[in-house]
Amino acid sequence: MADQPILLPQGQFAGYARNGLANLPADDEITRIMPGTPCGEYLRRFWMPIALTSMVGELPLKLRRMGEDLVLFRDRSGAYGLLHLLCSHRNASLEFGIVEEHGIRCCYHGWLFDTDGTILETPGEPATSQVKDRLCQGAYPVIEHKGMIFAYFGPIADMPDFPRFDTMDLPDDTMAPFLIPSPANWLQVFENSIDPYHVTFLHTRVSGVQFQENLVNLPVVDYHERTAGNGVFYTSTRRVKDLVWFRVHDHMLPNFSQNGGMHVEGNDSTYFVRTGLTRWVVPVDDTNTITIAWRHFNKETDPQGKGRPEECGYNSVDFYGQTGERSYEQRQRSPGDYEVWVSQGPITVHAREHLARTDQGVALYRRRLRRAVRKMAEGETPLQPTANVTTPIPTYGGDTVLRAPAHSNDDRQFMSDLSKRVADIYRASDGETGETRRTAIRRALRELEAGLQ
Ligand code: FES
Ligand SMILES: [Fe+2]
Repeated sequence: MADQPILLPQGQFAGYARNGLANLPADDEITRIMPGTPCGEYLRRFWMPIALTSMVGELPLKLRRMGEDLVLFRDRSGAYGLLHLLCSHRNASLEFGIVEEHGIRCCYHGWLFDTDGTILETPGEPATSQVKDRLCQGAYPVIEHKGMIFAYFGPIADMPDFPRFDTMDLPDDTMAPFLIPSPANWLQVFENSIDPYHVTFLHTRVSGVQFQENLVNLPVVDYHERTAGNGVFYTSTRRVKDLVWFRVHDHMLPNFSQNGGMHVEGNDSTYFVRTGLTRWVVPVDDTNTITIAWRHFNKETDPQGKGRPEECGYNSVDFYGQTGERSYEQRQRSPGDYEVWVSQGPITVHAREHLARTDQGVALYRRRLRRAVRKMAEGETPLQPTANVTTPIPTYGGDTVLRAPAHSNDDRQFMSDLSKRVADIYRASDGETGETRRTAIRRALRELEAGLQ
């Protein structure tokens, strides 16, 4: 009966009455990810980034991802391997293994494992031994792409194609990868990206301006179905004098999102300028998470060159409030995203929340995630980001700003209607790629704008 205490008369020192909320259980179905859990099984059907290339040196790297202890290495022939941490002989850790020309050799009795887990040598065993043919080490496939290492944790027979998003190859774009650990469940970290209203409060009105002043107004938010995969893109629309600024965010199950630009201010007409951030939120285990992403740096999203690619890396990025590295006082005086998702607790308890109108996106996402987890448990194959489209996968994240005089009657309704027309224009070119798509979308946006004058 989570909601009962709130029905008490307002302001009546309800501390004692609300105490019971402290013991409510977490929402296990969509938060817990250990092997064998419904959500853990669902997440294991997707490629996801697990580390930065820069984290892999000469020595093996011990990692925990998806609740599993692992070792990541690059052998001397250049191939990456991601193996279960403990040696299949007698459980010595392969973080102390020796990286060889092909594979990694356990330090304890010298068993040599290839990058796919094949046992190549068991040097202490008799020549007639068949142990290496009967056994193998747990291993996962790995792909390195533009400074990030991606892995697939699911059954090998179900391995999907690697998802190539259009924003992985934007013209004149520098991509800088970064990785930030947070001691919190993955879902509460990821939900931050489908909660556009927090931008007005956390990042502007309450803590002071952390990004752009023009974000101070509460947005008009609309959710648009996407052609590819399972998810939405949404527009956070704001008036800036006689302009209307559409910040477009991609949000795709299970854990992918793309923002608008980091340094777009909404003060000039702008047509289909692309994202500043391509991001995944990946579980380390049930109560630890990494945010792993590319920051995009280019003239279109950042004409004044305010971005700092050199600040992107392990536990570091060039925008506000993403790590726990600031002093406690600074974090209290001007909290950022890190403070809100970590302070919700190791696994936030949904039964203690009271979702309101501004949580529409969070509710929508949870509903879809729960449905996807259940469908998979019933035997359905999860919808991949590559579904229904040709590669590269068309995405929408970025910004458009159109000159559009304020509507005298109901400007918020006018902006909402306009966002649907912008979304239709974006989607209409899903079949095109690269420059052809950009040109088509930009032309249609200019035509739309001309019609509004
Ligand atoms: S424990 Fe690894 S070879 Fe024996
Ligand atoms: Fe934020």
